[in-house]
Amino acid sequence: MSQAEDTAGTRRDFLYYATAGAGAVATGAAVWPLINQMNPSADVQALASIFVDVSGVEVGQQLTVKYLGKPVFIRRRTPEEIEAARAVPLADLPDRASRNPNRAGTDATDANRAMDEAGEWLVMVGVCTHLGCVPIGNGSGDFGGWFCPCHGSHYDSAGRIRRGPAPENLHIPVAAFIDETTIKLG
Ligand code: FES
Repeated sequence: MSQAEDTAGTRRDFLYYATAGAGAVATGAAVWPLINQMNPSADVQALASIFVDVSGVEVGQQLTVKYLGKPVFIRRRTPEEIEAARAVPLADLPDRASRNPNRAGTDATDANRAMDEAGEWLVMVGVCTHLGCVPIGNGSGDFGGWFCPCHGSHYDSAGRIRRGPAPENLHIPVAAFIDETTIKLG
């Protein structure tokens, strides 16, 4: 490798990690006050369910909130991400189950994974189904979705495992829109 190539590679890696880090900080700052405010500690009901205001989430952005001790990714997908996910034949998927308790027993077509009919909103537990690491998002990996670097699991833009050791698609939590801009988890 020439020195020029080496430098370019280093800069790419740096930008990649810097972007991921900045995203994590920004979403954390935006989301935690809301959850604290809506999660009164004395109320047992509030521990079982949280309400997430998604009105500030633009197309192509992702919020990460903590629910039942795990990160939950709430992504507002781009038209390209939706189209790519919907174009994948079921036969290409290593795990053909939707892993969506909101549509229990269904197959892993994109329509069974997304929250809404248009497919814009995707809500998933952000825990790799291999050994439990938190995958990197924002179009990461070879399938434009999420990538778990520890052992190389690639998830597509519907959070379905496409390559690597993870046995199952990213799980979807019990979730529903209670109005146009509020998602209830649990
Ligand atoms: S925990 Fe994700 S690939 Fe191993």
